[in-house]
Amino acid sequence: MSDHVTAVVLAAGAGTRMKSAKAKVLHEIGGRSMVAHALAAVSGAGISSTVAVIGHDREQVSTHIISLDPAVVLAVQEQQNGTGHAVQVALAALPSAPTGTVLVTYADVPLLTAETLTAFLAEHAASGRAVTILTAELDDPTGYGRIIRDTSGAVIAIREHKDASEDELQIPEVNSGILALDAAFLTDALAGLRTDNAQGEVYLTDVIGIAADRGLPVGAHVLEDVWQTEGVNDRSQLARLGAELNRRVTEHWMREGVTIVDPATTWIDSAVTIGPDTTILPGTQLLGATTIAASATIGPDTTLRNVEVGEGATVIRTHGSDAVIGANATVGPFSYLRPGTELGTKGKIGAFVETKNARIGDSAKVPHLSYVGDAEIGEGSNIGAGTIFANYDGVNKHRTTVGKHARTSSNNTFVAPITIGDGAFTAAGTTIRNDVPAGALAVGNTEQRNIEGWVAAKRPETPSARAAAQSKQESQETHAQENGE
Ligand code: UD1
Ligand code: CA
Repeated sequence: MSDHVTAVVLAAGAGTRMKSAKAKVLHEIGGRSMVAHALAAVSGAGISSTVAVIGHDREQVSTHIISLDPAVVLAVQEQQNGTGHAVQVALAALPSAPTGTVLVTYADVPLLTAETLTAFLAEHAASGRAVTILTAELDDPTGYGRIIRDTSGAVIAIREHKDASEDELQIPEVNSGILALDAAFLTDALAGLRTDNAQGEVYLTDVIGIAADRGLPVGAHVLEDVWQTEGVNDRSQLARLGAELNRRVTEHWMREGVTIVDPATTWIDSAVTIGPDTTILPGTQLLGATTIAASATIGPDTTLRNVEVGEGATVIRTHGSDAVIGANATVGPFSYLRPGTELGTKGKIGAFVETKNARIGDSAKVPHLSYVGDAEIGEGSNIGAGTIFANYDGVNKHRTTVGKHARTSSNNTFVAPITIGDGAFTAAGTTIRNDVPAGALAVGNTEQRNIEGWVAAKRPETPSARAAAQSKQESQETHAQENGE
């Protein structure tokens, strides 16, 4: 791009039809707010100076935009007097009058890509026009501003739907709202805008008529991919565009060598990355900053948010967030990986296991029915079925450390803080309250004793007491018959 471009992102509207306490442009598709999609398209097109016009819900929207990119200039439009007024407010917020080109775009058009903006700006720059309009031809152009051309085909005006004549309403070509304008022309033309229209607003689109009147060149860049020009006004459109974005994202990863068995039930956020020869099975959601290496198998029915999965790992029917799964590790089915879980290479987290803030070493295994919280498990250790890491004393959390190549047996409770040494064993059903030295076997069970008649004495007249009494009588009768009595 030869000349300097300033982007103006319009985000001041009320979004009434969303019926939401959350600002419209903060609603998400593909794991990103709509305004984040808009800003990503602008910065992806190489534009570094951006003004966002905010108005409704301005605290929420400004906080969010600053978190995305603190370099964005925020311009507050107190009253939404129209798109022309919004651009006036934007330019007034700049430290100096813009030079080169001004790109106007909307915060609620989330499928617009950086590639489209790049091509659009390149065409505008090469043409030497005062204004280039990104347009689309729609089957149903209702509500949009129509592109008015003269008999030679030159664009001479944009007519808003509410101001259009019957003939003009038949025109299928519409203004997407995205415009590239010569900055000096725009600054001058904005000063001449009036409000003598059906909505009593300052229309940005009136600058096209002004340019045509002055004999300045105006042109349109017709976008075949109409999805990219579609705005979101309600939650139904949000879902439609979200599904289309997902279709595009799954298509992209399939072209990159990822097998997606059922794209319709696979949801992949925009920021996710996936290596080649990975297979994604139906009902899987890969969210946030999740990264999947090559040759992994994910799903079916798995949700991962901000999870890093290593090469060749298998993750079946699992719910995980803020976790790391090592190369060739196996997870699931029915595993719950909470934040801070780190599973080593060839490690295993098996069925009905919940982990939190737990480092499970290379080739270490927690195969069945366990809770592992605030723990470190060394390489090659095996944790028996039904083990609970009792990390919480009711007030504070404590850590458990299990060394390398330990073998802990079924149904243990590790009462933290505690350390189990390298190569140590534990007996089944043991509650481990004291540290276990390396190589020791910890046996904590007291010997079983049976208090005869306890139920009859302490729980009389209960079904248990009656069943016990009947059993005793039957065995006495059997005993008597066997003895010929
Ligand atoms: C606008 C265009 C129309 C185009 C359509 C595409 C004008 C006059 N009309 O119409 O030609 O076909 O978009 O969707 O430009 N906004 C502000 N401040 C305002 C008014 C609007 O920030 O004072 C923002 C809105 O939040 C929204 C965008 O600008 O993101 C468009 O506003 P909207 O009221 O939806 O414009 P339309 O009437 O649909
Ligand atoms: Ca609109």
